[in-house]
Amino acid sequence: MKTFKKNRIQQEIICNEDHFGYLGDPKNEKFFHPQPKLLNIFPTDGDPEFLVREVLKKNLSKVLKFRFDPVNVCNLGCVFCTTDLQGRHSQISTHYFEEILKKIYKTCIRISLGCHFEPLMTKNIHEYLEIIGKYKKNYFVKQPIVTMVTNGLLLNKRNTDLFGILNWIQISVHSHKKENFEKIEKKANFETLVSNVKFLRKKFKNLNIHFEFVANEKNKNDVEEFIPWAFNELGVDSVNIRRVFTNSYAPRSYLEQSIKINDKIEISDGDWEKIENLIIKIWPHSNKNFTPGFGLDHTLKKSPMTNVIEI
Ligand SMILES: C[S@@+](CC[C@H](N)C(=O)[O-])C[C@H]1O[C@@H](n2cnc3c(N)ncnc32)[C@H](O)[C@@H]1O
Ligand code: SF4
Repeated sequence: MKTFKKNRIQQEIICNEDHFGYLGDPKNEKFFHPQPKLLNIFPTDGDPEFLVREVLKKNLSKVLKFRFDPVNVCNLGCVFCTTDLQGRHSQISTHYFEEILKKIYKTCIRISLGCHFEPLMTKNIHEYLEIIGKYKKNYFVKQPIVTMVTNGLLLNKRNTDLFGILNWIQISVHSHKKENFEKIEKKANFETLVSNVKFLRKKFKNLNIHFEFVANEKNKNDVEEFIPWAFNELGVDSVNIRRVFTNSYAPRSYLEQSIKINDKIEISDGDWEKIENLIIKIWPHSNKNFTPGFGLDHTLKKSPMTNVIEI
């Protein structure tokens, strides 16, 4: 840090947690940590491999986590989504994905596919999994936890044969009621989601299927029934109830649109407290910060600022 004019501090590296890459400002070098521990790599509009080229110039000998979005688009328009999904379709090729893996397999313990956008919009997603499989078998020193974060709607359109490579698949599902589900996840079809999850459950008995439910004004009364539905009817292994956040979002995001048309998305502190109490009642042993079996370092929590109840 160096002093820049009186009373102003200029920080050379903004990411104080050794992060490389920031969705909100992808080309800003201040978010390019010289020796990162966490990589956030996604395609940039017009120059998909920009972040890959930049990250390959850095010292990658300490990387622990690799968050990777192959494409920058989504098939849905969730009313609370904070990501700018209006960019031109761009994809980072499997070649560049592998170039990064080559540099990090000695230290990396976690790979997440699809963090900001929708990974199943990648038609050849199985080829990325194939590469991960090859590196797991031949190179990784410590077997990494591999996850995918998806809305699950395109599972029936993709080759899922290699999904057994995943330790976790996180599917974001925000209601068990068709009406609310389709009101929140615009452009989605409830029956497709249900049949896709059932198909995956049947095909991969050992895959951890995790549901992420974002509590907002439209589904705040669904939590109590959602939890047994997810476990008993769809056979998922874990559920997380997360409170919607509305305080920061990208321009052109669906959340920005919702706010512009005064669609009420956020829930009050009182409503959130009711949900918390309800869950503590249903699941007395639920723990707010810990995903059983994976350790704190491996939780699916994406922001330490988010109120999360993990079951
Ligand atoms: C941006 S999405 C990308 C991955 C994939 N498309 C999906 O929906 O799972 C990642 C996660 O962020 C959640 N999310 C998006 N906007 C949110 C918000 N305003 N508050 C809380 N979670 C949000 C989504 O529900 C999803 O679980
Ligand atoms: S939150 Fe919804 S709109 Fe946003 S990327 Fe995920 S599925 Fe798409």
